[in-house]
Amino acid sequence: MLNQSFLKQAFHALSQHKMNVLLTGGAGYIGNHTAVALFEAGHRVVVYDNFSNSDRGALKRLEQILGAPVTTIEGDVRDTALLQRTLTEQQINAVIHFAGLKAVGESVSKPVDYYANNVQGAISLLQAMQAAQCKTLVFSSSATVYGDPKYLPIDEAHPTSATNPYGRSKLHIEEILSDLSASDPSWHIAALRYFNPVGAHASALIGENPNGIPNNLMPFIAQVAVGKLPQLKVFGNDYDTPDGTGVRDYIHVMDLAEGHLAALKFLTQQGGLHTFNLGTGRGYSVLEMIKAFEAASGKPVPFSVAPRRAGDIASCYASVDFSAKQLNWRATRDLKDMCESGWRFQQQAQQV
Ligand code: NAD
Ligand code: UD1
Repeated sequence: MLNQSFLKQAFHALSQHKMNVLLTGGAGYIGNHTAVALFEAGHRVVVYDNFSNSDRGALKRLEQILGAPVTTIEGDVRDTALLQRTLTEQQINAVIHFAGLKAVGESVSKPVDYYANNVQGAISLLQAMQAAQCKTLVFSSSATVYGDPKYLPIDEAHPTSATNPYGRSKLHIEEILSDLSASDPSWHIAALRYFNPVGAHASALIGENPNGIPNNLMPFIAQVAVGKLPQLKVFGNDYDTPDGTGVRDYIHVMDLAEGHLAALKFLTQQGGLHTFNLGTGRGYSVLEMIKAFEAASGKPVPFSVAPRRAGDIASCYASVDFSAKQLNWRATRDLKDMCESGWRFQQQAQQV
């Protein structure tokens, strides 16, 4: 029987301009969800990944959601020749560049690995794209490039800075993109600064499943709720925030995925380099997140208060006015949906 995603895609393909989109790092958390949004909008996705932080199992589950196979190339983004061949053979019209390493703590202990993977990877991709004459690119940047916020909400004009090699790798890539765009106006580039992506696709087949002990709040809470970890440490309750704990702009990963679709559509009409925040515009504290997750899961999330984590900031949330206006996109899913979908995925992940 044809599934709903397949029918949706067939409908959109008839009514819209269909693109072949290469997703570097497409087997990972955000890439997987973006593949669903692109497919449902009628685009063809090709995944390019070296599986350094993912596995083929996630792609199998993605194919289950789509009801169709996904062309997958196993390769490193630093392999310029393979990338160029892929771009040409797969007749790629646009690239979304997710591939990269993302653990802040690890970037401090292994800075060269981070610059090699992220910066060298981006340069290799740009060279391959240039050679293949494919000049439409969406890049996964991060709100980490804003450093310690000077004002809130953070708009795209906020000054940038970085306090660790991961953040600096994102800033370097943004600078390279800016120089490239200035040198050659035929490029169409969007740098998307993600705030804090959480949650999972409604099917619970794909989601965030980090290796080892999670660094980030939401997967940690989910693993405590499911009984895999004994308790959460709340990193500081003496910040200048309403309840003293850190405030962040959590965004449902499917909203984020749809932001990529909106950016691609925008780039079909606009050349140059454009930078957009992808967030909700609203912050939640660590204690609010714990409460919301307890309500969604029906499970207790025991916690204790620990010292502040080095490098953390009190509050960080986006101004989303520019993205809303330019991209005609806004996050629509609420905190309940983020927690419920994250919880369903966590339960499913326990069973595989
Ligand atoms: P992820 O680790 O789940 O996915 C990244 C994918 O890239 C993985 O499948 C990995 O195997 C692949 N990869 C890594 N290096 C590669 C290389 N050299 N060649 C080919 N493939 C490679 O991470 P994610 O959460 O999906 O993040 C995607 C992007 O978004 C990253 O660039 C990350 O820095 C950025 N970002 C993520 C967050 C977040 O909270 N998840 C926030 C801001 C920005
Ligand atoms: C972190 C990264 C940031 C990256 C983002 C998304 C750091 C310093 N920053 O942001 O560069 O772009 O992830 O991947 O790592 N918290 C706890 N206990 C925990 C974990 C987190 O109390 O076990 C708190 C943190 O102090 C913070 C909030 O939860 O207040 C969110 O933390 P996290 O999910 O790690 O995201 P960020 O710190 O915003």
